[in-house]
Amino acid sequence: MPQCQEPVELFSADKLHARVRELAVEINADYAPESSLHLAAVLKGGFVFLVDLMRALARPATIDFVAMKSYGSETCSQYIPRMVKDLEEEITGRDVLVVEDIVDTGQTLSRLLEKLSERNPRSLRTVALLNKPSRRLVSLELDYVGFTIDNQFVVGYGLDYAERYRHLPYIGLLEPLPQTE
Ligand code: IMP
Repeated sequence: MPQCQEPVELFSADKLHARVRELAVEINADYAPESSLHLAAVLKGGFVFLVDLMRALARPATIDFVAMKSYGSETCSQYIPRMVKDLEEEITGRDVLVVEDIVDTGQTLSRLLEKLSERNPRSLRTVALLNKPSRRLVSLELDYVGFTIDNQFVVGYGLDYAERYRHLPYIGLLEPLPQTE
């Protein structure tokens, strides 16, 4: 059995909820009251953030899910992510907000935005709960960011390490990374 290391709390559940509420206010102000927002969450990590954000938005929003997988070599951090689960709904002519847990090198989100923009949404914006700009390998503009962090590995609030820790209500730091076997 793998050992379960206790993460060091970085953002408490209260702090996360407060920041999500602030993001929701910001997002609401940027969209016309009559526009119907379509939230496209990136699985798996983005699902907890999506649920809290959706409930904090003072407007009805529709939701959908997409999943990307990265294939690359262990020695090279550059890769071309592939879509392994597409959105179920058409997005042409809609106001789409991509909901991402964390942006690291930026390759996943950049590839996803490329694919989605080909479908001609009316608008395509991004909200990331966490951003690690020091790790960026591609140029990427994020519309809304919850917290900017250093080059640290974080878990909790939907984020995992080897499929563990997603259930934690807070975001915590894993240092050093645990062994999986
Ligand atoms: P990117 O393509 O390098 O931006 O990778 C983004 C994806 O890597 C995220 O959606 C996460 O699944 C994963 N990831 C990157 N950094 C972390 C982290 O600190 N904790 C957990 N997952 C991470």
